[in-house]
Amino acid sequence: MTKANIKFISHDGVETDIEVDAGGVTSLMQAAVNNGVPGIDAECGGALSCATCHVHFDREWYDRLPEPAAMEKDMLEFVIDQRDTSSLSCQIKVTEALDGMIVYTPESQY
Ligand code: FES
Repeated sequence: MTKANIKFISHDGVETDIEVDAGGVTSLMQAAVNNGVPGIDAECGGALSCATCHVHFDREWYDRLPEPAAMEKDMLEFVIDQRDTSSLSCQIKVTEALDGMIVYTPESQY
């Protein structure tokens, strides 16, 4: 199966590189949790009710993601350190298009 390489960078600059199945099934949150990436608690397990999977991106990568659904936008209102490139990682499915992506995890989740 095709893989995507994704780099997570913590608020204090610690980098974690992971390789994820890129079949469009695994969420970015699940991939992070499976690989022990710090800074993503995902307390609700992807049910879009906790926002502890909040991440943000550089503009270049954010613009390649699908438009967030209304419920995701509502949940993002509650996160600390919300940016205009914020997403909930449980709502992003990993595909080949995300190969090379850089994901930032916010300080509030440490
Ligand atoms: Fe809870 Fe994403 S894991 S909203």
